[in-house]
Amino acid sequence: MSVKIIVGAQWGDEGKGKVVDMLTEQSDIVARYQGGANAGHTIVVGGTKYVLHLIPSGILHSGVTCVIGNGVVIDPVALMDEIRRLESLGISMTGRLKISHKAHLIMPYHKLLDQLQESDQKIGTTGRGIGPAYIDKYNRSGIRIVDLLDRASLEEKLRRAIAQKNEWFRKVYDAPELDVEKTVAEYLEFDKQIDEYITDTTSYLNEAWRSGKRLLLEGAQGALLDVDHGTYPFVTSSSPTSGGACTGLGLPPTAITGVIGIVKAYSTRVGNGPFPTELNDEVGERLRSEGSEFGATTGRPRRCGWLDLFALRYSAMVNGITEIVLTKLDVLNNFPQIGVCTGYELDGRALKYFPSECGSLERAQPQYQMLPGWNTSLEECRTWDDLPAAARDYITFIENFVGAKVTYLGTGPGREQIVVR
Ligand code: IMP
Repeated sequence: MSVKIIVGAQWGDEGKGKVVDMLTEQSDIVARYQGGANAGHTIVVGGTKYVLHLIPSGILHSGVTCVIGNGVVIDPVALMDEIRRLESLGISMTGRLKISHKAHLIMPYHKLLDQLQESDQKIGTTGRGIGPAYIDKYNRSGIRIVDLLDRASLEEKLRRAIAQKNEWFRKVYDAPELDVEKTVAEYLEFDKQIDEYITDTTSYLNEAWRSGKRLLLEGAQGALLDVDHGTYPFVTSSSPTSGGACTGLGLPPTAITGVIGIVKAYSTRVGNGPFPTELNDEVGERLRSEGSEFGATTGRPRRCGWLDLFALRYSAMVNGITEIVLTKLDVLNNFPQIGVCTGYELDGRALKYFPSECGSLERAQPQYQMLPGWNTSLEECRTWDDLPAAARDYITFIENFVGAKVTYLGTGPGREQIVVR
């Protein structure tokens, strides 16, 4: 019996898609627990590139069932796009995709609000309506998948919500109003299209767990973007940390058998917010170009810097990381020296804990240790012993600092470019 959580241990974009795809081979079910179409998981299989936003990356393996859990916020337009795109590539969803009837829907007004609010807040969101959808969820005024099943009640709820939001658009933003009839018609049509996938995923997952199925619980974004434990307010509006897996799927904490932290061999961040190890120089520029660090969802260039082990140790603590998958090690191939941040100084004093407040994080001075690079390609490496000594030392340094073993490491974008420890 195995129920493992996959978490992004940094600011997202650690390469979770490829890892989930790989670990799916040892799984019966892959279940996504939070976020929405703000995520972008890229997997390259046999030269074809797949970018998934909502559907778990496990869908690329035919024998596996994929679940979109109650903690996810679902944009029908993005979901239908994704289903159609995958089906056009020969990947069938029938009987393999299950969507929680408790998941909340992203409505057109959420996307509009997200974009309008950005002009005041400047979080650098993806503009996919994530924050406003979670606001309505916690305000108890959200519309859930289950509401699609009762046409009359859906119409009533939608009309009420759109009237209320339209007032806001008019008064606060002087923005155009949404058409109630058009939106109602669109969502009723959406109901028809996804009807076959809607189910009680909580009961499904609990039965699967109890009958000994192997479950992989997939988080989106990363721990440092968690609404509670991340660099608030520059965070996403959900709980990417491992704790979110239980609430986002309805599985009990006692089911969990391990937490796999996905760690990129250096650091990146998209959007605004503190990033102590950011390098605004030619090294940062090189990390971006060699790592192709451009957002899979928005295409934005990612901010880049050295690996922040101080932040990572905090992330490992909050998530309870039991093993690490280290990704994109090959991006560091040609750096003669590689920096790792082992602590922060604030006003001349070494900090004991990762700061919870953005002002301190903005002012924190990262303390670096420079480690020797390996200056060679990792393309042909398939085992631990194939790796150059400097690469092994780099990995061992990370393990000792963070207190968790690296079990797999990525040496290129392809499915087969993985070293198993
Ligand atoms: P939101 O999730 O669209 O509300 O955006 C909030 C913050 O999370 C912004 O800084 C985004 O750039 C960041 N973010 C959201 N999704 C991802 C992701 O999948 N990878 C990396 N950053 C993300």
